[in-house]
Amino acid sequence: MEEARLETARNIATNIAHELRTPLTSIRQFANGTQLHFQHLMETYQRATSIGLASGNLRPSQLETLTKIFGSIEKETVYSNMVIDMLLVRSGQKDASEFEWERFSTSEVVAEVMQRFPANNALEKNLPQLFVHEDFQITGPRLLVVHAIVNLLKNAVYYSQRARSPRVEVHISVDPPRWGVVRLMDNGSGISSESLKHLFHPFYTTTKAGEGTGIGLSFSQKVMHDLEGSIELVDSAPLPTCFEMRFPL
Ligand SMILES: Nc1ncnc2c1ncn2[C@@H]1O[C@H](COP(=O)(O)OP(=O)(O)O)[C@@H](O)[C@H]1O
Ligand SMILES: [Mg+2]
Repeated sequence: MEEARLETARNIATNIAHELRTPLTSIRQFANGTQLHFQHLMETYQRATSIGLASGNLRPSQLETLTKIFGSIEKETVYSNMVIDMLLVRSGQKDASEFEWERFSTSEVVAEVMQRFPANNALEKNLPQLFVHEDFQITGPRLLVVHAIVNLLKNAVYYSQRARSPRVEVHISVDPPRWGVVRLMDNGSGISSESLKHLFHPFYTTTKAGEGTGIGLSFSQKVMHDLEGSIELVDSAPLPTCFEMRFPL
């Protein structure tokens, strides 16, 4: 009974996700289009103000905010699309094979994720530290691997905030002959034995309603499975929480 209700909820969530993709893409395109014209309008406004033809009522800080809004729309729509990809892949409606497979450097992808990571502030942005012990190449759906790493990094940054001096580390290494290894660790609260049992279950979350979706870890596990790799929690790591992704070499 409970399982049937969960199944219905999953189906509804997946259908909603599917429906939202088109309007989201439109919002992104509208924002990009508006941004183009906005720059012209802005230049004209500034010229008109400088020769006394416009009132100049808009303060420089307001102009700056207006410009930043387009960046925020871009960031939020990209993130929303990522959640949709995750739901569709997790529910099996979209297969990893339908995404473009590439061969790419792990350290480049992790560096890119750290650069474009959807951080809430500068503190969060500067928290993750990257250690490349030995780089390796991954063959797989680049976009989905990026999504998986973004998720693990988001978790690490979020949960490490509970520590007095938060630390988040990403280590890239090779375990020859078969595996390339990415370890993401943080010095947050660690994971309770209760959570351990459900960690990789879809929609399992300990966050407050409206904060987390509980899709991240189960999605990451699906992607790693499709890549013939794995993701596990390692308990003998130097920091309290350590997720280890293994990619076949
Ligand atoms: N780095 C971490 N430290 C502590 N708990 C974690 C960490 N990563 C994941 N968790 C636990 O696993 C749950 C599921 O994670 P996830 O699938 O990413 O969903 P969400 O982040 O939306 O809650 C989290 O709600 C949390 O309880
Ligand atoms: Mg998460």
